[in-house]
Amino acid sequence: MTAFGEYYTIVILGASGDLAAKKTFPALFGLFREKQLSTKCQIIGYARSDLSQEDFYNKISQHFKGGDEETKKNFLKLCSYVEGQYDADEGFQKLKKRFTEYEKEHNVEKAERLLYLALPPSTFTSVCERIKKNVYPKDGIIRVVIEKPFGHDLDSARELQKSIAPLFSEDEIYRIDHYLGKEMVKNLLVLRFGNELFSGVWNKSHIASIQVSFKEPFGTEGRGGYFDSIGIIRDVMQNHLLQVLTLLTMERPVSFDPEAIRDEKVKVLKAFDAFDVNDLIVGQYDRSEDGKKPSYLDDKTVAKDSKCITYCAFSVNIHNERWDGVPMVLRAGKALDEGKVEIRIQFKPVARGMFKDIHRNELVIRIQPDEAIYVKINSKIPGVSTETTLTDLDLTYSKRYSKDFWIPEAYESLLRDVLHGNHANFVRDDELEVSWKLFTPLLEKLENNPNLKLEKYPYGSKGPTELRDYLQNHGYVFTRPGTYQWPLTEPDVKGKI
Ligand code: BG6
Repeated sequence: MTAFGEYYTIVILGASGDLAAKKTFPALFGLFREKQLSTKCQIIGYARSDLSQEDFYNKISQHFKGGDEETKKNFLKLCSYVEGQYDADEGFQKLKKRFTEYEKEHNVEKAERLLYLALPPSTFTSVCERIKKNVYPKDGIIRVVIEKPFGHDLDSARELQKSIAPLFSEDEIYRIDHYLGKEMVKNLLVLRFGNELFSGVWNKSHIASIQVSFKEPFGTEGRGGYFDSIGIIRDVMQNHLLQVLTLLTMERPVSFDPEAIRDEKVKVLKAFDAFDVNDLIVGQYDRSEDGKKPSYLDDKTVAKDSKCITYCAFSVNIHNERWDGVPMVLRAGKALDEGKVEIRIQFKPVARGMFKDIHRNELVIRIQPDEAIYVKINSKIPGVSTETTLTDLDLTYSKRYSKDFWIPEAYESLLRDVLHGNHANFVRDDELEVSWKLFTPLLEKLENNPNLKLEKYPYGSKGPTELRDYLQNHGYVFTRPGTYQWPLTEPDVKGKI
């Protein structure tokens, strides 16, 4: 892992697009604000649009968070714009000139160049070819950051890989899955392997079920044109949720070395059983119950009879010694009642005898919003009561850590990793291959089924009504209504909770 020094260049290709404005430039600004970016580096935005320097500044600074005017001004001083095409050398020659002039001016012996492709996948190959031809440093380091989607299925992912692999070594490529940059996802390794309390029970003898769930409170809202050919499975399950599940189930890596971690991720992915197309829920959102929110099919940018899946829940089995037989459910949906991403690990019940009817322990890791880890435990109701109650050991970050902690946004954290040459939180080529091998047959079966039945669920609801039974059939036991209250504030709770 080699960290960049003081004088390096960052190029954001696709600088006039949405991703650059909403995520990439704000993340660079965040790093600058937190003094994680060299004050001597240069940042170049590259795109096809004819933008004045001022237009460019306005575009990229719309979503900056925090920092005073002076900090913003100083950051923008590092930034400049280059106009150019993605399929012609001319623009890349302009970039080359910028690189070499800057490196010469600062007597840089070994060039350090980061090129970030905030671009649609159709341009990846052409852009990578031009980068290689025009701005690949003869002496120095290049880091090329690519955004998902990395292909649409196994064949297209292989095709993409085949076109990029001869140009850059795997070491030079950083495939972003921004979930790997989220604070709680980064914490999974520490939580699992740094605590005997968890590590010791992290297996099929103690764990009854695992769920990773992703809920979004909005629909496609005019972005359906993009989403319609993708669907929720490709959009967030094949990448984000699978990454989370992989970190939850892999074996202990020998160290924090990026390759040691990625080796273990690939190993566990290879032990996943093929996904069962007959054991899942697929749905599409309908108008909200009050009629105010549109159905998916009301989106003018999608086909009238679209069978696009906006909700999916399916189960995973891992056929290794640690996990075989433990139901693991991945579920994701758009246009639901709330926005939340969390992990639920439910433990097996304690032996009967002393307790006739006692709740199961459950570990909940809330990735967002409001990061938290809490464990549901049984405890005696305080005071003279001998009754047990379900309560929590609660680590809610906003209560435990003061506001002074800077918790980086996912993109801030990942860009910082790239600057440091740390690949641990990026997707390796073989990992991508295994994940597409798992998902492609499932997607093909769903997409080639003319009779696919999508359960309609109202916009703003909890999702398809089948979900509750589905979870119960996959090892999850719901807390009986009225038995769990947090916080437990009334002393006279007997019979009330
Ligand atoms: C993206 C998907 O990868 O992740 C979006 O393309 C989705 O559709 C987003 O909304 C969710 O990311 P986050 O960080 O908002 O949970």
